[in-house]
Amino acid sequence: MQPNSNETLWWQRGVIYQIYPRSFKDNNNDGIGDLKGVITKLDYLSELGIDTLWLSPIYPSPMADFGYDVSDYCDINPMFGTLADFDTLIKEAHQRGLYVIIDFVPNHSSDQHPWFVESRSSRNNPKRNWYFWEDPKEDGSLPNNWLSVFGGPAWEWDETTQQYYLHSFLKEQPDLNWRNPEVKQAMFDAIQFWLERDVDGFRIDVAHYIMKDPHLSDNPPNLEKTIGFKPMGEYDSQLHVNDIGHRDIHVVMREFRALLDRYSTSRPRFSVGEIHIFDWAKWATYYGEKLDELHMPFNFGFIGAAWNPQAFQKVIEGVEGALPQGAWPNYVLGNHDEHRIASRIGPESARTAMMLLLTLRGTPTIYYGDEIGMHDVDIPPELEQDPWGKNVQGIGVGRDPERTPMQWDTTPNAGFSAPGVQTWLPVADDYTEINVASQRNDPNSTLTFSRRLLALRRATPALHAGKYSTVQQANGQCLVYLREYQGEQWLVALNFSSEAQDLHLPINQGGQIVLSTRLDREESVNPNSLHLRGNEGCIIKLADN
Ligand code: NOJ
Repeated sequence: MQPNSNETLWWQRGVIYQIYPRSFKDNNNDGIGDLKGVITKLDYLSELGIDTLWLSPIYPSPMADFGYDVSDYCDINPMFGTLADFDTLIKEAHQRGLYVIIDFVPNHSSDQHPWFVESRSSRNNPKRNWYFWEDPKEDGSLPNNWLSVFGGPAWEWDETTQQYYLHSFLKEQPDLNWRNPEVKQAMFDAIQFWLERDVDGFRIDVAHYIMKDPHLSDNPPNLEKTIGFKPMGEYDSQLHVNDIGHRDIHVVMREFRALLDRYSTSRPRFSVGEIHIFDWAKWATYYGEKLDELHMPFNFGFIGAAWNPQAFQKVIEGVEGALPQGAWPNYVLGNHDEHRIASRIGPESARTAMMLLLTLRGTPTIYYGDEIGMHDVDIPPELEQDPWGKNVQGIGVGRDPERTPMQWDTTPNAGFSAPGVQTWLPVADDYTEINVASQRNDPNSTLTFSRRLLALRRATPALHAGKYSTVQQANGQCLVYLREYQGEQWLVALNFSSEAQDLHLPINQGGQIVLSTRLDREESVNPNSLHLRGNEGCIIKLADN
């Protein structure tokens, strides 16, 4: 289905902006971002032109995995503020026409969550079966061969009760047993708690992990040694067919969606799931056969793709081709688990990538700071925070470099915390150049580019709701496509190389460049002979046929 502009819903039209709350704005100057900090930046976000904020976890948590280890699903971590601050954030965001979605972490709780504290207290505890507890095999070995994403086996021995418990991530993140109806009910109650507080939806952490093979069978070896979205070393030595993604997941997803739908009278409440699957047909099953599961599974295809037009075209066409009738695509370039796009492909190409992200059919998600061109920051070993980076050394999985404080201005600590405060991760050295205040009024800055691009996308139905088609052309360095809506045609031409390119496109009408990544070009062009400078992208409005 190619809906027209009037038919698209807020989560389809809008652009999502991911806030990593620890790193966005520190209002109380303890070196860690907080909700009041986010509230002070709502006007910035509104001017930027995004539509939806996604807040990474803000729940009470011992922070073993920086909030993805939740110890209370129905409260706010005092480090981030209070429920009253959260209510204010929702109200103030809604007043500005912004939507707010929050992270929900269903696969595992913290080991400090009262549920797990009870569960591990004795084999007879009523909450024992809320988690996975298993005896060793007869020969004394681990219950099965499952591995933790963060390194080592997925089983941890408990001295007190003489059994192993399962943790797909850190040992401080025991997996919840969703086959126990009490667990499911408790989690749905938590979702309802936030729906009642008027959130607009949820980002579901590792949504496909929550249903495992009920017999806990071993995973087979991965003979191909294929790598998923990033090198994971030992974890990739297996095919993850039994520890994640059991088909019963779809039953849970349908129940979750039904709950959201019950709260969707004033506007649809939305869900996007973190699903690291790159077989698009399999990935697409998470929309549900009747589009009754997730509104969207996140599409991480661009994150692992080499920066060349063939690889990106393959992802776009793979995704478009696999979508069930009526399902809505989405794209992302980065998040709190991935090296920043500006570091992966360089600052100039990062603008081209942003143009791509914001001109494709489907919902784009921007990672905080990418709009000003923030890059990864080298973290010296003594300041390293991320447990993944500490556990699995040598293959670059540490996630601190992409989580550093947002760069707001030229003052020490970049306006994230007051000068002199020790921030939880160091601020980038070049913050006096790359920051919001310096870029705000600079006509050539990345921020100006991002704002113009976002405004153009919002104002142009073809760009946010139109049909997509690739324009085939012989030049191997560029990706060119058309977006069309009610007879209006827009051409997007992106040069992935640092060399200038001359394109001869099979298009018979002239056009007008409306935006170039270099921000210095608004001329008439003939697509039969289109010149792009190195790393340049252009959005061209084609003349009526
Ligand atoms: C995926 C999250 O994005 C990541 O940050 C986290 O460490 C794992 N899930 C475990 O919750």
